Amino acid sequence: MIASTLVNPAGGLRYHVRAARYSRKLWQPFRWAVGEWLLGWNPPETTLVIVGPSGGYNLQPFLFERFERVVALEPDPVARYLFKRRLSRAPLERHPSLEMLSEDHLLAEPERLVTLLEERQACVLFSNVLGQLPVLLDTAEPEAPALARIRRAIARMIEGRSWASFHDRVSGELRPALEGPIHADGRLTDAQILQAFYGEADSAQTGKAPPEPPRELQDHLTEGLFPEALPHIYFSWELEPSVYHLIEGVRAVRAPQG
Ligand SMILES: C[S@@+](CC[C@H](N)C(=O)[O-])C[C@H]1O[C@@H](n2cnc3c(N)ncnc32)[C@H](O)[C@@H]1O
Repeated sequence: MIASTLVNPAGGLRYHVRAARYSRKLWQPFRWAVGEWLLGWNPPETTLVIVGPSGGYNLQPFLFERFERVVALEPDPVARYLFKRRLSRAPLERHPSLEMLSEDHLLAEPERLVTLLEERQACVLFSNVLGQLPVLLDTAEPEAPALARIRRAIARMIEGRSWASFHDRVSGELRPALEGPIHADGRLTDAQILQAFYGEADSAQTGKAPPEPPRELQDHLTEGLFPEALPHIYFSWELEPSVYHLIEGVRAVRAPQG
């Protein structure tokens, strides 16, 4: 069990090695941009459940200051140790209590996460984990039953609570053409992504069929996870030299309770 979490395809030791090599050199602009975006997310809930924080490499500790309790779901023991250490050392005015859970609440039985959120009356942050579902579930099939089950569970998780997610939309060796974060009124379609960030011509203007994603780009199958009409944000993250992830962010805050 421990060995498998250390080679987790969505994290594991390889991820910690990458973080050690590149988090200062390459990840900083992404970390700052995500931090700023999350600063604008102000949930009224006092408990945060964070899914997949790893060692907290892409999170600004001040995010946690506004919560009384943080529950972190993270199967990787090294990540749990590093995250706990990072949070305890962060120069915060107020440190939340931290509970770390190693058991899976996302993949096999995502309904467990619905229950956890209800029990804790918590808001939820999916921390760069949902774009890893294809690799975690070992599927390239958008309609795979396990993916569909997670989508259905997420629809229940986000109802009536605050939530946020940033996740891989596409990745590959092509550098997306964006310097800072880009805001969009709704989720961009694949054709809009290619046109806006990868230099494809606008198919409406050329009259040609919308382009297929270039083979160099991997689609992380995030369509249908969250309401598409909500504002979305797009970040570029250079994971390692010449490997780029286009990260999509979307969030909502629970309506005031009357
Ligand atoms: C791509 S990493 C992102 C880590 C971190 N949020 C960041 O941005 O640097 C994905 C994380 O999800 C974690 N993970 C994998 N399976 C998980 C599961 N079933 N539940 C929660 N986290 C999981 C991995 O251990 C890893 O830390």
